[in-house]
Amino acid sequence: MKRKIAASIYVFNFLEVGKKMDELVDAGINMIHVDIMDGVFVNNYALCQKFCKDIKDKYPKIIVDAHIMCINPEKYIESFTNAGTDVYNFHYESLENKDPKKIFSIIDNIHKNKMKAVIAINPETNPRILGPYLDKVEGVMCMSINPGFNGQVLNPIVYENITWLSKEKKGKNLNYYIQVDGGVRENTYQELIKAGAEVFVVGAFINDESKKIVEQVKKIEGDNSWK
Ligand code: DX5
Ligand code: ZN
Repeated sequence: MKRKIAASIYVFNFLEVGKKMDELVDAGINMIHVDIMDGVFVNNYALCQKFCKDIKDKYPKIIVDAHIMCINPEKYIESFTNAGTDVYNFHYESLENKDPKKIFSIIDNIHKNKMKAVIAINPETNPRILGPYLDKVEGVMCMSINPGFNGQVLNPIVYENITWLSKEKKGKNLNYYIQVDGGVRENTYQELIKAGAEVFVVGAFINDESKKIVEQVKKIEGDNSWK
């Protein structure tokens, strides 16, 4: 499977987001990761549906990946699809009701609303718990940091989580993509590639004035991107 960058828009200065979007698109990035935080599931607030819509209105070809860090994520499915969101990326830990029937119905509802379904897990959540859903979702996102704040250091347990998901995918011939969010840096991206990560959420990695975005993209995607 090929590799892809999803640029985390939250890390940029909000007063410069329009200019940054143009730079990201010029560098060949076609997936934008939008962090949504409710101040309850995580101790912080961030972005919203309108932000997704404003991106989609101006750049219709961009894939909008909404990372829903909110309790009861099922409440927001319709409003995000109405905002043009392509990927509904919700946390397993944020579900008050973890009954598999409930989880299947959420995934179903995301699909009925014409979005891809991705389940995110925190570093300390064992990915094996996602077993029943792996043939139903388009992706699994492994957090390598506790969600809520950018600029944190990666928890190495994420390598094990990704490795397990990668083996499971190959062993059972499944189709989900493996995404990683948080702590992608010069000293971590190669090991993440080796472990089997395919979609890389990057904030600090592409928000460094001394480094060209296009060069950073090349490091991860190589000649191997799935545009
Ligand atoms: C944090 C967010 C991440 C964050 C990543 O809760 O989910 O998307 O922006 O930031 P970096 O890549 O700088 O660690
Ligand atoms: Zn995120």
